[in-house]
Amino acid sequence: MEKISEENLDPANWDEMRRLGHEMVDTMMDYLQHVGQRPAWQKPPAALMEKLRQPLPMKGQDIRSVYEEFVTQVLPYNLGNIHPRFWSWVQGGGTPVGMMADMMASGMNSNLAIGDQAPVYVERQVLEWSKELFGFPQEAGGILTSGASMANITALIVARNQFSSTIKKKGLQDQGGIMTIYGSAETHNCLIKGVEAIGIGSEHFRQVPVDGNFMVRTDLMKKMIAADRRKGYQPFCIVGNAGTVNTGALDDLDELAEIAQHEKCWFHVDGAFGAIPNILPEWKPRLKGLEKADSLSFDFHKWLYMNYEVGCVLIRDGAAHREAFSVPGSYLQKHERGMAAGPEPFAGYGLELSRGFKALKVWMLLKEHGIEKYGRMVRKNLEQAQYLGSLVQASEQLQLLAEVSMNIVCYRFNPGGIGADQLNQLNKEILIRLQEDGIAAPSYAVLDGKYGIRAAITNHRSTREDFEALVKETLRLGRELAVTSAAPRTRRQASTK
Ligand SMILES: Cc1ncc(COP(=O)(O)O)c(C=O)c1O
Repeated sequence: MEKISEENLDPANWDEMRRLGHEMVDTMMDYLQHVGQRPAWQKPPAALMEKLRQPLPMKGQDIRSVYEEFVTQVLPYNLGNIHPRFWSWVQGGGTPVGMMADMMASGMNSNLAIGDQAPVYVERQVLEWSKELFGFPQEAGGILTSGASMANITALIVARNQFSSTIKKKGLQDQGGIMTIYGSAETHNCLIKGVEAIGIGSEHFRQVPVDGNFMVRTDLMKKMIAADRRKGYQPFCIVGNAGTVNTGALDDLDELAEIAQHEKCWFHVDGAFGAIPNILPEWKPRLKGLEKADSLSFDFHKWLYMNYEVGCVLIRDGAAHREAFSVPGSYLQKHERGMAAGPEPFAGYGLELSRGFKALKVWMLLKEHGIEKYGRMVRKNLEQAQYLGSLVQASEQLQLLAEVSMNIVCYRFNPGGIGADQLNQLNKEILIRLQEDGIAAPSYAVLDGKYGIRAAITNHRSTREDFEALVKETLRLGRELAVTSAAPRTRRQASTK
């Protein structure tokens, strides 16, 4: 028999690999340390991105040259959510220890689907801490997810399966009526995706109108549920928003919990970022009702500033969580001893089987900083939002488009005498120029037809000066553009700073 190759994928020269590894760490530490000195965003140059398009590599190339390609072609063209002036969508900024934790987790290459291994115990510890933070009982279920979207879908599956004991086996076809779910018109679209994915259908997500502060109209929700019942629909779930994505509006969670109890509906709270102020004593009363949720989703990678990606779902009834995802007779049953012993496999608590060790960064970072420091960071962001709101209000040419109820500020430049469409176009152009010129990276929201510049502040690196610069530059650009009309600049102009 011919000799079998003993080639493997480890480095031929470990010393060289170690040197390169140290260099990589230095590159990334420099990258983080000096992030504020770079533009808030820079467009990936088309020619450089074209260079990324290469044929499938059939033969290997020296790893140092691959690394150099990364440093020149990839690293500078990040979206920028680590930058102190990044306030787009809702994205956290990560930390150096989070980065190193991911490196170590990747080095261990753990798969947390199953097994008697320390990483599983670390994730369980993180889940126990999470339950404590949000007032869930220790016997509650929970799992770390890629983010709040996956956390929300996981909760919806449990909610749906709890509605009827036959759903898992027979599906929705056998339920003798159409199941309906209720949440405000400002609910994040991942929940709409979720109801589509689990067979409920987006039409049956009843989008309840909001009031002037973008909070759900509970009076209308009750009426919609009653009307649906009269028509033979089967309400099964109510979604509360702890922080809507557009404006950070907080629904009356306590009242929603009461409605859910009265209607015998599951109560889910999407707290992707807005559940986090629950770690502040002064915010607990405002989030009252959160602790009554049957399920809660939140992200560590948003307002706890952890490195992408890691979210979490908690399910009050741990048995319901287990029941929703258990598959009898699976080859993943745990044993009484050996490697397949230990805690219940995480594979039985969600859709995914293979799962990485995202718990490591959460565990390390919570230990590194402690909840008190996270509280100070969150409080700082809340105060910064109020500060930005006050700067906007102090300017005659700026206008707040929504109450600053949490950490999101929506405003526009409005010097007066400009029609609605032109004003929208003007503010869109201001926003794009703020980004293209690398000044700052807010995003946008259209509220009641008004295009607004939107700063979602989940950034531990921002300072007061950053917000002062945002306001100053918005005014400068607004005044310049209002004179020269809001025509978008040409591509050539855009690329010369
Ligand atoms: C309120 C809300 N829910 C859910 C999500 C989805 O979270 P993720 O991006 O972690 O999936 C977001 C994202 O911004 C959000 O703001």
